Formats: sequence, C-alpha cells, structure tokens
Amino acid sequence: MPRLNAGTRHVVRFTLNGRPAAFEVEPRMLLTDALRHLLGATGTHVGCEHGVCGCCTVLIDGMPARACLTLAVQAEGCEIRTIEGLAPSPARLSILQAAFRRHHALQCGFCTAGILMSLEAFLATRPDPSAEELREVLSGHLCRCTGYAPMIAAALEAAAKLREDAVHV
Ligand code: FES
Ligand code: FES
Repeated sequence: MPRLNAGTRHVVRFTLNGRPAAFEVEPRMLLTDALRHLLGATGTHVGCEHGVCGCCTVLIDGMPARACLTLAVQAEGCEIRTIEGLAPSPARLSILQAAFRRHHALQCGFCTAGILMSLEAFLATRPDPSAEELREVLSGHLCRCTGYAPMIAAALEAAAKLREDAVHV
C-alpha cells in the first residue's frame, strides 16, 4: 500500500456484496465506521471496537476479518462481503440464515451478523465440519444472550443442506 497523507481524504474503490462501491476517507477511519456511516451498511455491528467480540466480522476477499481492526483504506481493490449480501434475495434467507432461524440460534441478534459471516467463510472451505470445529469458529465470537448450542446445531444442519444441494447441482 502506498504511503498515505494523514490529513487528506482518499478515494477507496472496492466491491461490496458483488457491486462496485467507493468511499472517500481519511486514513485513520475504520472500516466499520465507513461501512456504517458512509454506505449505510449498518448490518455490520460494533461492539467492543478492539477485536474481541467478533460482531463486526466481514469477509475480505473471502476471509473473515474484524472490520473494527481494519482501516477503511485497506479495502482498496478488495471484495468485501457483509451480512447485507448473505441472503440470495430480499424475500429469501440463505441456507445458514434459515437454519439459525429454525434453531432459534439468535435472540437480540447483535452478535449474529458477525457469527454468520464467520460460519459462511468456514463452511465454504469445510463443508463437513464437526461440532468441535464449529465450537472453535464460534470461540472468536461473544454472544451474551443465546448460548452457542443452537448455533452449532444450526451450522451442522446448514452444512448438511449445502452438501445435499451440491450433489444435486
Ligand atoms: S467490534 Fe470488532 S471485534 Fe468487537
Ligand atoms: S443473540 Fe444477543 S448477543 Fe448474541
């Protein structure tokens, strides 16, 4: 990345959920703030703001990342996915989202966007995960109200459904 002038705003271009996007930011601005305040993508939540709770997790070039620990300028040229891009259409939840709903794997939902993004990335690389592996993924996320057992049940069910769908493609 080239050296950036701290006092200047920089235009950053990237794709957001498959569409071209851009914002103009100072180098110190966080990706969470840019997504939420400049693009209105408020599905990415902000909890601890120092990399602990996981609720700000987005996918950057397919990898989960804490948006609160990422500078907005680092999005340049990247493919960013947020919770707004998870459902295939406004009228239809993704398989993972639907499984979360079926298993009551959320209550207040504050942590849910980040958890879904982490699981989405994990299931893409590990289609047949064990409950233990899923527990490991969830260990990077804090949920204060639901408990993790229904999330693991939902993720296992979603993984099975995704495998089944892959066979029938
Ligand atoms: S807000 Fe980013 S990890 Fe908590
Ligand atoms: S559902 Fe409330 S914090 Fe997780």
